Amino acid sequence: MSLFRSPAKINIFLRVLAKRSDGYHELASLFQAIDLFDDLHIDKSNADQFTCTDPGLPTDASNLVVKAVDLFRRKTGITTPLRIHLEKRIPSEAGLGGGSSNAATTLWAMNELFQCPASLDQLKSWSAEIGSDITFFLSHGTAYCTGRGEILREQASLPSENLWIVKPALSLKTPLVFKSLCLKTISREDPEVLLKQCIAGNPSYVNDLEAPAFQLLPALASLKELLQQRGKVCMSGSGTSFFLIGKEPVDLGVGLSVFRASFVNRPKGCWY
Ligand code: C5P
Repeated sequence: MSLFRSPAKINIFLRVLAKRSDGYHELASLFQAIDLFDDLHIDKSNADQFTCTDPGLPTDASNLVVKAVDLFRRKTGITTPLRIHLEKRIPSEAGLGGGSSNAATTLWAMNELFQCPASLDQLKSWSAEIGSDITFFLSHGTAYCTGRGEILREQASLPSENLWIVKPALSLKTPLVFKSLCLKTISREDPEVLLKQCIAGNPSYVNDLEAPAFQLLPALASLKELLQQRGKVCMSGSGTSFFLIGKEPVDLGVGLSVFRASFVNRPKGCWY
């Protein structure tokens, strides 16, 4: 079986600009891949088989891996059966993009397996049909994303930080967080200014989805306060995980998973 690593992401900043008529929100966010990986094993087979180490995840057509397989087949006409095994390490419903990353990795892996019938630009444009964050994972790993999240401006790699990911034993569904967002009370920072600050090495960590997530789960606000004693802290995506840039978070109490992480980028033409 061929192995493809599937990275997580954080949102260094995430501004929500408006609600769209299609029900989605207009975003402006700097996405960064990190070296917390799921492993996707894939091979040609006699019959389709998809297995996953996390019993809590569905392996039916609702799984983004299966959606990516169907998408690739529809677009290329290649229907060879596949055996896919997914080893999960990225927590789910954490704002770390695990499912989207798995889908992007599946598209890249299938393209490799079948001698590249699609260009990278085609994979990127197809990926937006099954989710907003998948396109980012086909970038080199640092990208300013707008629209639903699927319009990319790739950025130069960012310098490494003393990064920790903290995931509480609480989960939030992305649609609920967006639904709870009050557009009148969100931040007013210009995302282009936020981007320039990041490039200049002076980032501001802003996430407009923190307020609705904290309203839904007040314990998240307390956790952020606790983590702020160790460094700079921001929620990733729609939560519930936080990234911390600073000292190792120790003695935080039970029910928290802590991952040491680094920013990661893939070399041009290669996967992670
Ligand atoms: O596109 P994706 O399936 O990842 O989005 C999941 C949900 O998150 C959407 O159904 C929508 O409720 C919300 N969302 C949004 N605006 C975005 C991205 C996601 O409202 N830009």
